[in-house]
Amino acid sequence: MTRAVCPGSFDPVTHGHLDVIERTARIVDDVVVAVGSNISKNALFTPDERVEMLADECAQWSNVAVTLFGGLLVDFCATHDIDVISKGLRAADFSYELQMAQMNRKLSGVDTIFLPTAPQWAFVSSSLVREVATLGGDVTPFMPAKIAERTMERVASRNAGAATDV
Ligand code: PNS
Repeated sequence: MTRAVCPGSFDPVTHGHLDVIERTARIVDDVVVAVGSNISKNALFTPDERVEMLADECAQWSNVAVTLFGGLLVDFCATHDIDVISKGLRAADFSYELQMAQMNRKLSGVDTIFLPTAPQWAFVSSSLVREVATLGGDVTPFMPAKIAERTMERVASRNAGAATDV
């Protein structure tokens, strides 16, 4: 039985992430989607909110579970019997992802498989989606409708807060 982790920040989850999770779930027996709990100052959603949104989207796949993780990914792999790390790869990610994969392998022996991002989502990233939403653009093409709606609501309330702070 092979168990993979799909780790990420997922702030917020996009169609690109979900495509990688689904494809991983077809290759291995079990998938754990691990949401990094290290909060960045610019995070749009709390880690718990991201887990909740992902769990909702991943409920359609019976062999996918979603959880939070903190600390080193390789430690998470050891405590959750993970055999392999699975990540989507866009052209721009290559050097950093390669470096992380090699570091993780050196630290623990756990290997990483890369799935080429689906061409229709190759230009999509959570950070670009946050930027587009913050500047008033429509992000519905890049993520499930419910998540796009929550993203635009969150950005609107944050923008309203920023306006009253001035
Ligand atoms: O979606 P992201 O932001 O690319 O996800 C990055 C994440 C959370 C997968 C990565 O930062 C990570 O693995 N963090 C855990 C800390 C860790 O193990 N650091 C050493 C990596 S070599």
